[in-house]
Amino acid sequence: AAIRYHKWEVKYEYKSLDCYQKLAITINGQTPGPTIVAEKDDTVVVELKNSLLTENVAIHWHGIHQKGTPWFDGTAGVTQCPIVPGDTFVYKFVVDRPGTYMYHAHYGLQRTNGLYGMIQVSLPPGVSEPYTYDHEESILLVDWYHQSTYEQATGLNSLNFVWVGEPQSLLIQGKGMFNCSTLAAGLCNATNPECSPYVMTVVPGKTYRLRIGSLTSLSALSFEIEGHNLTVVEADGSNVEPFVVKNLFIYSGETYSVLIKADQAPTRNYWIVSTVVGRNRTTPNGLGILNYSPNNPSTSPPTVPPVGPAWNDVEPRLAQSQSIKARKDYITRPPKKSDRTIILLNTQNNISGYIRWSVSNVSYTLPNTPYLIAVKDKLHHVFNQGHPPNDYDSQHYDIFSPPENPSATTSNKIYKLRFNSVVDIILQNANTLSKNTSETHPWHLHGHNFWVMGYGKGKFDIHEDPKKYNLVDPILKNTVSVQPYGWTALRFRADNPGVWFFHCHIDYHMFLGMAVVFEEGIEKLGTLPTSIMGCGKAKVSDRT
Ligand code: C2O
Ligand code: CU
Repeated sequence: AAIRYHKWEVKYEYKSLDCYQKLAITINGQTPGPTIVAEKDDTVVVELKNSLLTENVAIHWHGIHQKGTPWFDGTAGVTQCPIVPGDTFVYKFVVDRPGTYMYHAHYGLQRTNGLYGMIQVSLPPGVSEPYTYDHEESILLVDWYHQSTYEQATGLNSLNFVWVGEPQSLLIQGKGMFNCSTLAAGLCNATNPECSPYVMTVVPGKTYRLRIGSLTSLSALSFEIEGHNLTVVEADGSNVEPFVVKNLFIYSGETYSVLIKADQAPTRNYWIVSTVVGRNRTTPNGLGILNYSPNNPSTSPPTVPPVGPAWNDVEPRLAQSQSIKARKDYITRPPKKSDRTIILLNTQNNISGYIRWSVSNVSYTLPNTPYLIAVKDKLHHVFNQGHPPNDYDSQHYDIFSPPENPSATTSNKIYKLRFNSVVDIILQNANTLSKNTSETHPWHLHGHNFWVMGYGKGKFDIHEDPKKYNLVDPILKNTVSVQPYGWTALRFRADNPGVWFFHCHIDYHMFLGMAVVFEEGIEKLGTLPTSIMGCGKAKVSDRT
């Protein structure tokens, strides 16, 4: 196994990703940052210099389990102190499973500024995937706002709540197109080469593996390539029993590999389209070009771009999630029973006039001393040592109406899981503060994969619904969606010593408290690296 060494400088730069000029965070001048390419069991080393001048940073390696290196998970407040301006921090971890993963900032709302990229882990030579292709390419899908994250954060965190609204653009691998017609050319210029559409060039007759990741701040997306079928073969690093779709629904935090065959008329180009679903969209579709060589890559297809599916049609989205099963011959069966069940109610709340998102009536706050250090070094006073709720008032709670009592509490308590125990998590969705509204939440677990045991509509029934769990071929994922007024059941083994974040991957929901933290097996860890310390009560000089 090899060492994959990267030296990154992270800084703010003016970019015109969708023709509109605004500050973005770049890695060595790029956003998205460089794709990390590695083979299974390689060690990735990233030496990161924070040149943001007035802002901390931390980078999370999304989908990488960090077995034995929980301190390099990159989650500010959970696994490390953030990296202060001017400092250099070295991340070093093993990529032990092939597949498609991502990395992104995990500090406040920083991710929304463009600090992200893809990780592709291939099999070692001589071992092959259960499918074949001629070439592969990674693309990252995001949504893009013109307001700064400071303005967004301030609005969200004010008594005078200001919602961020819908994004201005959708970017495909960092490229989009905003309508500049009413804006000054210095601010928005449609002829700026920085905002030319994303182009993927194909050779007629060849098959391509497209590794697709979504790191949207808010939006659920549909992705399609005009006139081409997508064969889904991988989800979050697991082999999927292949199925064919016209459009792929993808939630923030998910990755997929799809195979596409360049089998359409080769005399023209085709549209690549991303579309917002799940919210009444006002954002124009993101457009890229599938270029059939040797046509000119910048020639627009002769057709009107596909409009994408209806935003409010939940059925096809749920159906697609349900059709994702582990591939035959690659099935890892889940344990038949769990040792513990935690039911997490997803609600929007009002705490002393502030709008927050909550989990079982608790809205999450991070302590200023990272949990990993606090738990390992028994700094009991830095966060509440009580136990967060295992359930909500499921007997009486009406998930179809705004909360009767919309107040919740804020807390930084964590779930302590018995090492190696099997844990079931039920994510129960409910109505928000406004009538007849329930949102889609993509939940992401750090440090583990979980089996997706089932999806359902309405209120989860703890006696009946577990009988319908898929014990035969459930997929192992790290991110899963919970549909409006529905539930999703997960099962995982708490076998990775460390402290792990579990949260809605919508940045604004996480920022407003939609998260919990799990701890397991921390006594099995050796001494923590001092490089993760330096904030709160974790200052090395304060201890010894
Ligand atoms: Cu990709 Cu904690 O997130
Ligand atoms: Cu959410």
